[in-house]
Amino acid sequence: MQALTTIAALREAVQAAKRAKRRAAASDAYEPTVGFMPTLGYMHAGHVSLIERARQENDIVVVSIFVNPLQFGANEDFDKYPRDNERDTRLAKEAGADFVFIPSVDEMYPAPTKTIVSVQDITDVLCGASRPGHFDGVATVVAKLFNIVLPDKAYFGMKDAQQVAVIEQFTADLNLPVTIVPCPTFREPDGLAMSSRNVYLNADERRQATVLNEALRLAESLSADPEGITPGQLRERIMEHIQTAPLAVIDYVEIKAYPSMEEVSSLQDSGRILIALAVKFGKTRLIDNTLLHRG
Ligand code: PAF
Repeated sequence: MQALTTIAALREAVQAAKRAKRRAAASDAYEPTVGFMPTLGYMHAGHVSLIERARQENDIVVVSIFVNPLQFGANEDFDKYPRDNERDTRLAKEAGADFVFIPSVDEMYPAPTKTIVSVQDITDVLCGASRPGHFDGVATVVAKLFNIVLPDKAYFGMKDAQQVAVIEQFTADLNLPVTIVPCPTFREPDGLAMSSRNVYLNADERRQATVLNEALRLAESLSADPEGITPGQLRERIMEHIQTAPLAVIDYVEIKAYPSMEEVSSLQDSGRILIALAVKFGKTRLIDNTLLHRG
């Protein structure tokens, strides 16, 4: 596995790997596939499993590690976001990556960007409302990374369900030739969704944070009753449950059609319904969600 820090070196390495695969297959017509997993780094078992999946499904696997300043607000945790490139490089190698791309901020943004990829409407709610500009930063860096890596498939965790909707939207709108592969959320044994930000939690916050998974499981069981509960009532029940944790401060609990992010009038509406939440424990803001599939 190779770790590369410049766009030119990464592009050349991927092209060389493709040429080598074609030679090995003794066919110029053979088109080796590239699987890509962009990350902010500080990897956990969820990242590792996505890289392993990319390994199974592609000839060449690229992982990027880049804490993207464009997606952090002025008072957010860009400076203190946990970083450990050495450990991440080792984990990516063990999971089967061929290349790890670790650009500097100057490499990605040699000058302030005048071009922003900005997805409309579906970014007005949930994390888009709480973190203005966040999804412009995500969409812009992911579009740049897609143009650098030129992947056939790109892998994203569904813990960030709204992010997946945003990435699928601009990929379709801009006709980018990449298939987005949404992957299930990975959870700790007690149900807390894995996140690099979990390291910020102190022992009390970490213990109480399990209330988020409990609230989502409660929501799934309450919404299973076809006679039952309205979206507004369900939202109340989820909030009540979260508030049983004294340290929890709710940013939002929302129930929306997925991926349109439109209001749902009934939990029996057809299609997918996203139940999403963002809750602060101390200074740490955690998100989680569940997706209901209706016939
Ligand atoms: O989900 C993340 O880790 C980031 O938002 C991403 C997709 C790597 C873009 O910086």
